[in-house]
Amino acid sequence: MHINQNYLTSIKRLPLMSVLFAWGLISLLMGCSKDKEDASKPTTLTLVTSADYPPFEFMRSSQIVGLDIDVATAITQELGLLLHVQDMNFSGLIPALTTGRADFAMAGLTVTPERAQNVEFSDVYFQPALAILAREDAPITNIAALAGKRIGAQLGSTMEQFAKEQATQMQGITLTSLNRNPDLVQELKVGRLDAVLLEAAQASAFAQVSPDLVFSILPKAIAGYAIAFPKDSPWVPKFNEAIARLRAEGKLQAIETEWLTVEKEPLHD
Ligand code: ARG
Repeated sequence: MHINQNYLTSIKRLPLMSVLFAWGLISLLMGCSKDKEDASKPTTLTLVTSADYPPFEFMRSSQIVGLDIDVATAITQELGLLLHVQDMNFSGLIPALTTGRADFAMAGLTVTPERAQNVEFSDVYFQPALAILAREDAPITNIAALAGKRIGAQLGSTMEQFAKEQATQMQGITLTSLNRNPDLVQELKVGRLDAVLLEAAQASAFAQVSPDLVFSILPKAIAGYAIAFPKDSPWVPKFNEAIARLRAEGKLQAIETEWLTVEKEPLHD
């Protein structure tokens, strides 16, 4: 009987082939069931923020609320995702992204070339202005008037960077950098600081609840706020599309109007 050599080899290969086939089938089925599971359960993204920055993010009735949180909610809803918000110190936000402990950060985060080396930024969703918050009895209305003053700025922020630059150019500036902005505002109120550098909408929010404080907006162009992601995050293009849609539908503007006009309730607990 003539046995085809090829046939023999294929019989010998059979056990291995069936194992491979079975393995393929199992992984295919597992893949399918995983897909089914994914389809019924939306992906949850973790947003890290620093809830000390009204009206962008702050605590109200033990909840993190604000413009950034509403924008994040609108974007994730648009993309069919669930959102988990986690609070931390501002200086910990970028490390949380680079170590993969969060999917994105929103915290009135200014795009800077230094940060862009470590994280991926979305398109800009808000254009801020820089302001000086001071006591009503000792207002500071321009950059030159910062000479000889005790200035406060948030640790790791672009305001701190700006204050450091001023300190190299002007006489007698002392800089205090703290983790939380409400603590800086408190230092200002009790007279241990003369000025706190903040974003204008935020300075206005603080001044609104503390009539003993006044603010001046500086005529200095500053970079916009964007969402930060770990490098090579697959979410960046999707978020950019969602930002563009929300802007076109007027939803971004509606969120801004809601948070940037009247702050009727207390800024934090
Ligand atoms: N825009 C400034 C920066 O990016 C300050 C942001 C502070 N944000 C906050 N949630 N505390 O450095």
